[in-house]
Amino acid sequence: MPKLLLAAARTRPVRASVSALPMTHKMVRRFIAGPDAPSALAVTKSLRDQGLAVTLDVLGEDVTDRAQAAATAAAYRSLLGSLSDAGLADRAEVSVKLSALGQALGADGDKIALENAFSVATAAAEAGTTMTLDMEDHTTVDSTLGVLRELREQHPWVGAVLQAALYRTEGDCRDLAGSGSRVRLVKGAYAEPASVAHPRKTDVDAAYRRCMEILFAGQGHPMIATHDMALVADACALGRARGDWELQMLYGIRADEQRLLASAGVDVRVYLPFGTDWYGYYIRRLAERPANMLFLLRHLGS
Ligand code: FDA
Repeated sequence: MPKLLLAAARTRPVRASVSALPMTHKMVRRFIAGPDAPSALAVTKSLRDQGLAVTLDVLGEDVTDRAQAAATAAAYRSLLGSLSDAGLADRAEVSVKLSALGQALGADGDKIALENAFSVATAAAEAGTTMTLDMEDHTTVDSTLGVLRELREQHPWVGAVLQAALYRTEGDCRDLAGSGSRVRLVKGAYAEPASVAHPRKTDVDAAYRRCMEILFAGQGHPMIATHDMALVADACALGRARGDWELQMLYGIRADEQRLLASAGVDVRVYLPFGTDWYGYYIRRLAERPANMLFLLRHLGS
């Protein structure tokens, strides 16, 4: 079902109808802080005051223009300066998609994305915070982990996302479970072929549990990113014995549980996207839960 929804989302009529929703619409604002950095900073402050840490995402992906990739890197650097000025950098970091920094720009894509990502990581270090590389579809994993390796030579705290849905990920978890490593473990939001990813959700869930155990057995800082409360309970049990880990959830999903867990002493971080290029992110959130998509279709049809 999610695969069908993601395929439908690529068609022109669906894209046109959904993109016509105003950003102010509550169906969009549920998942997205707002159109610009000031709105994201306001939400960050509010989440911080509720005991939650934040990771901020400047929305945008699959950039095919070098100037746009440079502009996105500049937007991140400016955001990091604002976080520092507002006294929020101890509770807020940034999440970056390499495809927004130029990864898809042909043969030089990796080099351009690395240069842009390096400038963002340097700005994060100056602000006193960290950066994590998001993971996109399976064709980008080798490139993203290659950029991560280079960034970590200078900035060993740069984190990465690994997707339990991919067969390769248990091995990647072992490789990245060493000291100083920060890994955000997710199930995976992209429609992937069965040649590279578990087709059945129950197998993804089982793989997630195995990956989580590998990360908790290692020396790094596991970032357990899920709204699956059975996995959250397992993570809390594993984390109690070990310390130095965090739980992460998306803005707009299980907000009550985020606050409850934080007040119970769990380190909880909220992934908070903002910006005007919200279509791709929003559609992945709808596809994760068919009820969300049906709600939207009813709205568009009314
Ligand atoms: P699952 O899909 O089983 O959901 C468990 C429960 O959570 C559902 O039953 C429902 O109650 C609730 N829920 C989940 N999604 C919902 C939604 N959209 N709307 C309403 N309720 C929902 N993926 C990726 O491929 N690359 C990445 O870089 C990232 N980054 C990332 C960061 C963070 C902090 C998080 C939490 C997630 C990501 N993801 C991601 C997305 C991830 O891969 C996955 O698609 C979602 O987290 C949904 O999977 P769950 O683990 O929540 O489990």
